[in-house]
Amino acid sequence: MLAKEITPKAIVDYLDQYVIGQDEAKRTLAVAVYAHYRKLSALGGQTDMIAKSNVLIIGASGTGKTLACESLSRFLSVPFVTANATSLAQTRYVNEEIEAVLQRLIDKAGGDVQRASQGIVFIDEIDKLKASTGESNTTSGESVQHALLKIMEGAPFKLGADRFIDTTNILFICGGAFVGLDKIMSRTHSFGFIATSESDNKNILDRLNERVKPTDLFEFGLIPEFTGRLPVIARFGELSREMLARIMSVPKNAIYHQFREVFRAEGVELVVAPPVFEQIAEIAIEYKTGGRSLRGIFEELMTPILYLVPDHPEIGRVEIGSLFEAPRYFKRPPEARS
Ligand SMILES: Nc1ncnc2c1ncn2[C@@H]1O[C@H](COP(=O)(O)OP(=O)(O)OP(=O)(O)O)[C@@H](O)[C@H]1O
Ligand SMILES: [Mg+2]
Repeated sequence: MLAKEITPKAIVDYLDQYVIGQDEAKRTLAVAVYAHYRKLSALGGQTDMIAKSNVLIIGASGTGKTLACESLSRFLSVPFVTANATSLAQTRYVNEEIEAVLQRLIDKAGGDVQRASQGIVFIDEIDKLKASTGESNTTSGESVQHALLKIMEGAPFKLGADRFIDTTNILFICGGAFVGLDKIMSRTHSFGFIATSESDNKNILDRLNERVKPTDLFEFGLIPEFTGRLPVIARFGELSREMLARIMSVPKNAIYHQFREVFRAEGVELVVAPPVFEQIAEIAIEYKTGGRSLRGIFEELMTPILYLVPDHPEIGRVEIGSLFEAPRYFKRPPEARS
């Protein structure tokens, strides 16, 4: 099931190529996933002996939660789908929606139900399942939690008339921003009082304080049975300006590399100086959508240049030194023109 060379460290090394920062969370995720698939292969068919360790990812919007899970499933080459808890709650027929999610997982596995039953399902916006909305044609968050409980725990799930998928070995990763959880934690975690001075035990205290307890989630609005099925918790932190700047230029598929390729196809070299990434990061912080707004801002910067370049074959190089200065265009040597 899981190749020998796939260790938690190998998983983290792979994630490092795509997900900037979030080191602690990447390690937690890697160990959880590793343990899950190792247990599957060690116990063979006797899967009823497995205590499942589904994972909860807590982190603000645009901090890399979906990106990390997607990268993870690509590395493990297991089928992966994402579902949205909010849309599960917006229907009266939760089970039909869940069936559709599992059906998508089977499609991702090329129709192979067996392979699908060892895949990963990522359920986003799980934090939106707290209170009932009161609308009659929707299902309350609480009953969606109950419906999800069943498949997370593992059970044969009926697909259409005569087919079943066993969800016992599917790894469920739930994600959510949990806005307001910090407030609950600052009330329920009293470790802070041990601190005698600002700096001395800050590291240990930070770690203790950052640990989310099941009771915090309960107070937030998840039912105890549900929090009990999510023993592993990974927290994705806010992205700093420096991290945001790196997201644009460091990962393998970073947007800067993508645009350099586009320009190279025109025979033009694109050079964006480091301060530009920092300036864009600054703007992204104000938008408060994590890494999500970076692409839009960067594309806006590129639009006028991409508009101009194809009509000017004499341009061989474009340099952008700052968001507040015009781009500089350089002629290519005459013999290089085609
Ligand atoms: N840590 C990160 N490293 C690299 N890129 C990131 C990171 N965080 C965010 N991004 C960029 O921002 C985009 C959005 O991130 P992602 O979809 O992972 O957010 P999310 O945490 O799942 O947010 P939401 O809660 O809104 O679903 C990604 O496609 C990626 O380009
Ligand atoms: Mg997401």
